[in-house]
Parts: sequence; structure tokens; C-alpha cells
Amino acid sequence: MKQSGETLFEAFLNQHDTRAWEVTVKSLLPHIHEVDKNATQIWFYFFPLKLAKALQQSEDPEKLAKKLLMLGKYHLKDQIDRSHEFLYGHRYWSAVKKAIQEHAASSKAPSSLELAAQIKEVAGRVASELKVDNSLLLGIVAVGFLTLQQVGIEAFKASSGKISLSEKVIKKSPDQIFNARAKDEGQGILGFLKTVDKVYNVTFNENKEDCRYKLLDGQDLATAAASDKRDYRSKDPRCPEGPIPVECRAASCGTCWVGILGGAEKLDPVSSKERKMMPKFGYIDTEDQRPLIRLGCFTPAHGSVSIVIPPWNGYFGQYLRSLEDENEESNHTTA
Ligand code: FES
Repeated sequence: MKQSGETLFEAFLNQHDTRAWEVTVKSLLPHIHEVDKNATQIWFYFFPLKLAKALQQSEDPEKLAKKLLMLGKYHLKDQIDRSHEFLYGHRYWSAVKKAIQEHAASSKAPSSLELAAQIKEVAGRVASELKVDNSLLLGIVAVGFLTLQQVGIEAFKASSGKISLSEKVIKKSPDQIFNARAKDEGQGILGFLKTVDKVYNVTFNENKEDCRYKLLDGQDLATAAASDKRDYRSKDPRCPEGPIPVECRAASCGTCWVGILGGAEKLDPVSSKERKMMPKFGYIDTEDQRPLIRLGCFTPAHGSVSIVIPPWNGYFGQYLRSLEDENEESNHTTA
């Protein structure tokens, strides 16, 4: 049912919970270009709908965020134009945002009441306007739809829609970016003789050339990041050493979570501790040995990888589960 003040399109989006979105993204994935397949899934892990709803429905969101140990920039409304910078489709954001607003304001009945179909419809329209392949738009349009659902139409419209990518980055083709991602460079003339001291690159922002650090074979992502002595703390107090935020370095606090854009196969499989803690933090719950979301301090690497560092961290998995249990219980009582 439409709530007061809610537009028809918002009401439509609000019919979709986390599960519905999972089904939608899964159905879109085969049609999303390789360059944005992982990035799209990572974005959905970084900005979970369930958590956004729990904060919105809380009487005191700031108090709840404190209780859930949330640190960093966790409000999507403060980063509507930037949260998806790691998607290739980000470069089309201005046109995507405009098309989503038009779609939301349209008085014409949509061609389908299925979420995935509407995402495809908007992506198709932008693709033909910009003369680019549809597969490059699907991920960013899905991200735009969920952003609108989380922040509301007024905040969505109020953001500028501007992006700040260099000309050089904008000119890169999706294949160029995909092929360069996590590429292992040579180890020198005698590299094949090396059994120890192999050195790899960890890229943590594909849009900037200097956003990479060195990793020794077998080092975990966060320990290697600490060898990058540049100042990250002044921009983000969660970063005392290197670009990856850290605190415990023992898989106990959840500060160091990262998304793996490329090279997941070069990482050690998930350890039992990482597997146990990830659902507690709320980041991911999977049997996958090498998932797209990892704890930097507990993930040794054996090759070059490309990662994304989320702008926030928290410990919310247990809390969200307790809310679900309460809901289930009250449904049983009223049944
Ligand atoms: S730094 Fe605490 S979990 Fe990695």
C-alpha cells in the first residue's frame, strides 16, 4: 500500500525487500558486462537495504548506529553521486540519474511491473541515447534504483549527478579496464627462479594511478597495506596505517572489510574464523571459498588483486537477525 508522501514509483520500489533485490540482481547478472559483474554485487553488499531500513525505522538512528559500532560514511544519502565510483557504469551516472528521475515521474504505466524489466527498460533507453552497449548500463541503473529506494526521491533529485573522473579514465574501454584488473606483472628477468619474495600489486582505486601498494607473496591484504606510508588517517581516522581501515587485525572487529573486484582466485580460501565472523558483522553469509567480500586482515594473497574499500564499517549482522526473529515470533503470535 502507498504511504502518504510516497510517489507511485517509490511505493513500487518499497514492495521489494532484500530477498526480492537478490533475485533481481541474480537475474540481471548474466546480462551485465564482465567489467561490472563483481562491482555491482559488491555495491549491493556495501549498501544493504535491510540495514538502511532498520536505521530509518529506528526512533533514534544515531543511537542505533552507535550500538551497531558503525563508523565512517554509512549514510547513502551523503554519497548519492559517489558511492558507485568503482563501477565502470559510473561514468554514465549523470544520464542514468536523469533517466531514473524521468522514469519515476512518468505518468505512463510501465511496460512491466517486474523490477528487473524496469531496470532493463531504463538501461536500454540510456544505452540508445549514449550509443553504448546495454550491458554497461544495467549495473549502474540497478544501483540507481536501490539508491532511490533507500534515500527517497527528494534526496535523489537534490544530488547534482556530477562525476569527477579524469579524461584519461573516461576514455578507457571496459575491456581495457577488465583485462588490466589484477594482472600479475613480471617478477624481473629471474622471476621464474623466485620461490620467496614475490611482489605483487594491490590496486584499491582503479580510477587513480597512485592508488596501489605492494604485497609480498602470502601477506594478508591489510598487513601489506600498512607498508604504504602515505597519510590516510587525516582523511579517514579509521586508517592509522595504510589505506585499509584496521583496528584489531584479528578478524574480531570487522573494520577491514573489502570488496574484491578482480583476482579473488589468488586469495587464500576463507578461514573458519572469517567464515564465523562475517555473518555476525553482517557483511556476507556464504559457503563460497573465495567470495567477493573479505576481511583484509585475514586474507593472504598470492598475486595482484584489485579491491574496493568501503567507506564505513559496523557490526550489525546479529542485530538484524534478532529483528527478523522478533518479526517471525510476532507473526506466529498473531497467526
Ligand atoms: S582489523 Fe579487525 S577484523 Fe580486521
